[in-house]
Amino acid sequence: MFSEKLIQRLKNAYTVTVLTGAGISAESGVPTFRGKDGLWNKYPVEKLATIEALEKTPKLFWDFYNWRRELLATIKPNLGHYALVDIENYFEEFTLITQNVDNLHLDAGNKNILELHGNITKNRCTNCDDLTQMDPKESGIPKCRKCGAFLKPDVVLFGDPLNQNILRKAQEASSVCEVFISIGTSAEVEPAASLPFIAKGNGAFLVEINPEKTALSANADEVINLNASKALTHLTMILDRLR
Ligand code: APR
Repeated sequence: MFSEKLIQRLKNAYTVTVLTGAGISAESGVPTFRGKDGLWNKYPVEKLATIEALEKTPKLFWDFYNWRRELLATIKPNLGHYALVDIENYFEEFTLITQNVDNLHLDAGNKNILELHGNITKNRCTNCDDLTQMDPKESGIPKCRKCGAFLKPDVVLFGDPLNQNILRKAQEASSVCEVFISIGTSAEVEPAASLPFIAKGNGAFLVEINPEKTALSANADEVINLNASKALTHLTMILDRLR
């Protein structure tokens, strides 16, 4: 499953950086965005996951995000998430960059997490940027207690800028790592899609874990076409033997 070359690189690695996408949460029952049952195949992203959608059709916007929150309230981390907790503890420097907003890496227990696209369990004011925990009892269109403006889930909507501090840390972690592992992402959405190339450009060994071929596959030093939970639990067994 893992080449001798990768095992050697991991054995000697001090700094490892991981990028995860929706695929690592698929085995927890979270729909991915693209591919055959992808969320964006069913719902028009530009009509739902944008600031314009919130301003023009706030009820539709919040119905969509409340539906996603209800779904995410029922899910738990899977073996892939828990394996990444073990893997984090194995390396001196480990950074987990995630595009996911489902809070599952935090639930599983990883420590050094960079949530590039935010976290759906919080609300942020579209005007004064105030961050509030989501109030599940709140019904209707939530408004900011401080300034009265629309709240939005604390996620990066299409057309939204990312948190530049988090992005800079993600780029930094990608540029200094010896091994970069891309897990469960179609590697199509920028700026996350550039992170593996930053790593490779700085000499990292680039690994992809994904049952399907992606835009990244041809550039990876090693492609493991398996589900994240199977590949990552096997990786933890290998690391245990290397200890
Ligand atoms: N294990 C590993 N990978 C999997 C699994 C699995 N069990 N199941 C599916 N995958 C892979 C798919 O093959 C696909 O390549 O996960 C990937 C999911 O790709 P996308 O649905 O495009 O999700 P992602 O790459 O995370 O999207 C990036 O796009 O819509 C925006 O903000 C949203 O963060 C998201 C970003």
